[in-house]
Amino acid sequence: MAQIEKDSVSGTDTTGHEWDGLRELNTPLPPWWLYTFYACIAFAAVWVVLYPALPISGATGLLGWTARGAFPAQQAADAAQREPMLARLRSTSPAAIAADPQLRSYAIAGGRIAFANHCAACHGAGGQGAQGGYPSLADDDWLWGGDLAAIHTTITHGIRNQDSDEARLSMMPVFGNGILTPAQISDVTEYVLALSERSTNPEATTRGATLFTENCTACHGDAGRGNPEFGAPNLTDRIWLHGAERSQIQASITRPRMGVMPAFNQRLDPAVVNMLAVYVHSLGGGR
Ligand code: HEC
Ligand code: HEC
Repeated sequence: MAQIEKDSVSGTDTTGHEWDGLRELNTPLPPWWLYTFYACIAFAAVWVVLYPALPISGATGLLGWTARGAFPAQQAADAAQREPMLARLRSTSPAAIAADPQLRSYAIAGGRIAFANHCAACHGAGGQGAQGGYPSLADDDWLWGGDLAAIHTTITHGIRNQDSDEARLSMMPVFGNGILTPAQISDVTEYVLALSERSTNPEATTRGATLFTENCTACHGDAGRGNPEFGAPNLTDRIWLHGAERSQIQASITRPRMGVMPAFNQRLDPAVVNMLAVYVHSLGGGR
């Protein structure tokens, strides 16, 4: 049976536990610690009565406060705080926003978030584009124009959609529908390959050049460099919307894909569209 006795040095009781001659002191808790502990218990008791603390459905506490109930007021307060800046962004053109350091940094921060929410699914997280005809927005190759006004128009009205009467529109003819024979499509494909110095068949390229002048230059330009008025891609560079391989180019001519992008003027605050235009322009290729 352990023996409880006073420790001769400190004058404190021992607990009676002893290990190899070492005895454990039973030191009382310091009063400040004890009273803080009691105060916490008292605080918790009051809290449980006033606030929703019990895991019972519908238990709200005497004050009737809930996180869900408090949220709309908090949201309204946040919106009210943001509103003056949003009003400025709404009434300022993207070009003027980009020229004002304060508005520009706000627009780029907000544009980045809006981009992640509304654009990244198609254009990739950093606007790097995705396979299947979703162009990179971070390079200086533009289908529809890369200055702030052109980017703003593209985001506002979208491309080939039913959402907006002013959507960007142009349709490359379906050349595989009898406009050109398969042999002619093969020749003009060879010419398109020659534009990026990849042709291996000079005779087909020569035949294709004539076909190109007759059928393609109206949109893609005499030299095949594209035309932003029709969203016609540059065919002389190494950037391809629908693939760079011979078979993919041939497929693009036989049955063009005609990418569609929704209009955002109905879905987003005009301030957010302005912020997005400035953000996209800042990704690296803005003109
Ligand atoms: C449903 C998919 C989709 C979504 C969402 C989408 N886009 Fe697009 N976007 C496209 C496609 C497809 C094209 C290319 C259309 C074409 O072939 O002309 C495009 C083209 C563009 C262009 C023109 C690029 C150029 O080279 O001229 C811009 C700018 C652009 N998108 C910005 C945005 C922004 C900003 C958002 C978000 C607010 C967005 N897009 C959301 C599919 C999408
Ligand atoms: C009415 C305008 C128009 C005409 C005419 C036209 N194109 Fe196009 N072409 C476009 C547009 C717009 C696109 C982009 C399609 C898209 O956004 O998906 C395109 C895309 C392409 C592509 C795919 C480019 C890429 O980056 O993947 C090729 C290749 C092409 N055209 C070749 C031709 C050839 C060859 C002809 C003539 C036989 C021709 N086009 C005639 C408008 C035109």
